[in-house]
Amino acid sequence: MYRRYERFFQTLPRPLVRFMRDTYLAALDLRDRLTGKTGPLTPPRSLHFIGGGDFDRIGEIFLGHFIKVGGLKESETVLDIGCGTGRMAIPMMKYLSESGAYHGFDISRKAIAWCQRAITPRKPNFNFHYANIYNKEYNSRGRLSAAEYRFPCGDQSVDFAFATSVFTHMRRAEVEHYLTELNRTFKPAGRAMVSFFILDDENKRLVKEGRSVYDFAHNLGDCLTVDPHTPERATAYTLEDLKTMVTKAGLKIQEPILYGSWSGRRSMLDAQDVVIVTKG
Ligand SMILES: C[S@@+](CC[C@H](N)C(=O)[O-])C[C@H]1O[C@@H](n2cnc3c(N)ncnc32)[C@H](O)[C@@H]1O
Repeated sequence: MYRRYERFFQTLPRPLVRFMRDTYLAALDLRDRLTGKTGPLTPPRSLHFIGGGDFDRIGEIFLGHFIKVGGLKESETVLDIGCGTGRMAIPMMKYLSESGAYHGFDISRKAIAWCQRAITPRKPNFNFHYANIYNKEYNSRGRLSAAEYRFPCGDQSVDFAFATSVFTHMRRAEVEHYLTELNRTFKPAGRAMVSFFILDDENKRLVKEGRSVYDFAHNLGDCLTVDPHTPERATAYTLEDLKTMVTKAGLKIQEPILYGSWSGRRSMLDAQDVVIVTKG
């Protein structure tokens, strides 16, 4: 059902989809306000779109993955790449101790402003940074390039980083640079959990058979996308390209790759494919 619904929206013009989505989310925000469903740590849904599903529940589930799979500890320094409205930061507020630290950055000015207002006054060791980076899907007026952006963290300062559903909206040169930035900011035992859409042999076969949510039918040379007009809507990389990018950045992939359900295969962790990278 979800697959059919997702594929239907892929056939509509992007401005129309955005308009329908924003109207729908504004209506849900109004309903939540009228029924008193919102709390101080509930961001308005209309601030940005992060797909379907329960905001709080998904954040809790990912915190569990970060601890069990990524080995996150309470006292560590964490970097959240593309933190949005704090879906992962909010559950982490209860987990990280005062000796730990959280840094999140995003290209959505409104999302970062909300996090700075709602989260930092309650947890001063949680910092949020706005990066005015161009992305046709998320910040079409951005002035900076992700391929040159310096993460807001010093060299060798990060224990654990993650990017959930962010590199899946980025072009190759941008992904390559972000991987290099991970290497720069990682402590010697640093590691990151990063989600991708990966085209390995199995996923290519499932896509060909029409079993996947996305078809990635357009090969732009640097990446594959579902939409050649707005490539950042969803980007994919072949497994070979991903391995090349990771190695070039001086990192390595911790096996196994945790493949997701987007392709139609049984999920090992999430809907997207999750890769753990460490220093090479
Ligand atoms: C699907 S949302 C996911 C948000 C958040 N990671 C989560 O899981 O709730 C994608 C996010 O990536 C951000 N984004 C896109 N390109 C980015 C970039 N180059 N650097 C940082 N964030 C980026 C968008 O603004 C958006 O908040």
